[in-house]
Amino acid sequence: MTEPLPNLAKVIVSEIAAHPVAMPPPPVAKTPQPVRTVMVFVTDRDSEGVIRQCLSDLAVPDAIFVNGGVDAAITALKARSSPRLLIVDVHGVDDPVGRVHDLANVCDPETGVLIIGDVNDIRIYRSLKASGVVEYYFKPLVRNLVMQTCQAIMTGNTEQAPSRQGRLIFIVSARGGSGGTTVATNTAWFLAEKRKRRVALIDMDLQYGDAALQLDASPSHGLMEALEHPDRVDELFLERAIIKVGERLGLMAGLEPLNDTVNLDEHAVMSLVELMLRRYRYLFMDIPAEVAPRLLRLMHLPSTTVLVSASSLACARDVARWRVKLGPNSAERTTLHIQNKSGAGNALSNEEFARAAGAPPDIVIPYANEIGIASLLGVRGLQTCAALQNGLVPLLRQLSGEEATLSVRSIWQRIWGK
Ligand SMILES: Nc1ncnc2c1ncn2[C@@H]1O[C@H](COP(=O)(O)OP(=O)(O)OP(=O)(O)O)[C@@H](O)[C@H]1O
Ligand SMILES: [Mg+2]
Repeated sequence: MTEPLPNLAKVIVSEIAAHPVAMPPPPVAKTPQPVRTVMVFVTDRDSEGVIRQCLSDLAVPDAIFVNGGVDAAITALKARSSPRLLIVDVHGVDDPVGRVHDLANVCDPETGVLIIGDVNDIRIYRSLKASGVVEYYFKPLVRNLVMQTCQAIMTGNTEQAPSRQGRLIFIVSARGGSGGTTVATNTAWFLAEKRKRRVALIDMDLQYGDAALQLDASPSHGLMEALEHPDRVDELFLERAIIKVGERLGLMAGLEPLNDTVNLDEHAVMSLVELMLRRYRYLFMDIPAEVAPRLLRLMHLPSTTVLVSASSLACARDVARWRVKLGPNSAERTTLHIQNKSGAGNALSNEEFARAAGAPPDIVIPYANEIGIASLLGVRGLQTCAALQNGLVPLLRQLSGEEATLSVRSIWQRIWGK
């Protein structure tokens, strides 16, 4: 079962209302976008016929039809990029709302989802709408209604603002050099390249950040501009400012002059985050130790915070302090602690570290010379580092919604093809 989808937009809006500052104008209505693709998972011939007819009337050239329901859709979307329009049959499914939540976990926020089924139940309808699907129709399908909904999705004119949001993940280095950027870049890269999800990474170290270096990309001034002039940030701006690392991985990272003063306005960061979460399934923010205290309101939004520390006594003390600052886990917000560089020269034993940090870590990654050496080649070099990749498996499993029953070995094989 996946966690409930946070309605982050609402939280951000109330935060902004409580602290008025110059804010960007409301986002402009989406201009019609060309159809990316259409995928249809349907289990009966009558519904298939109605949908085929609708798509043909709308002149959709390349719809993919699969004879199957929501389970088939989840399996398919784990392995490929999300379509623009997704039609999924939940006929005969015991817990359609739960399965649609699972589907949302593997599907881009921008995908318009139309669910069809055999149950006429207003509670199911409301729950599905609340989880962000555009419409739910029960069978037999009414051609006009299906056509209207398909057309609205494909032209970006669905009435409701999408309530499905990407997942927000903060990677916070408890102190400089702990390994935060290594974890952030490798995890983001994996989800985009191997799991085919749309992923973005924002490097909040505007002057010294090396996420771009790790991802073999060139930093740009776009992030700084977005933070200095939040009123200029819209879809068009993002289209230009996001550095495309691959087909599905977007990066915002700068390398601002050292003599410039970087003033971080948390409201500007939050409004950028809100826009990015509408475009990406996962939004990673690589936050250095000294920047994190300036973004505490942001970090209390529904999210996962991955606290990365090295294994020294000073780091254990920082982890304890950060745990207090971040507060206990809740349904909407989780903190995971990665104790990195375990066994390094200045490392405490794992037991000593847990005692000093106040709790054992969720994940331990050993110190390994090969990581430092391979990191010279960035994430591609690090793919061959067993120590790092083994360590990241539990985090990747948590983030990508992999079945907990799989053995580490089989996940390892599936993730890294070994
Ligand atoms: N488990 C490990 N074993 C050995 N070296 C590691 C390990 N994890 C990270 N490193 C190395 O430690 C260095 C610092 O890592 P990284 O840049 O990811 O940390 P950071 O917390 O982002 O630091 P910064 O404060 O510079 O932002 C890098 O050279 C990286 O390759
Ligand atoms: Mg870093």
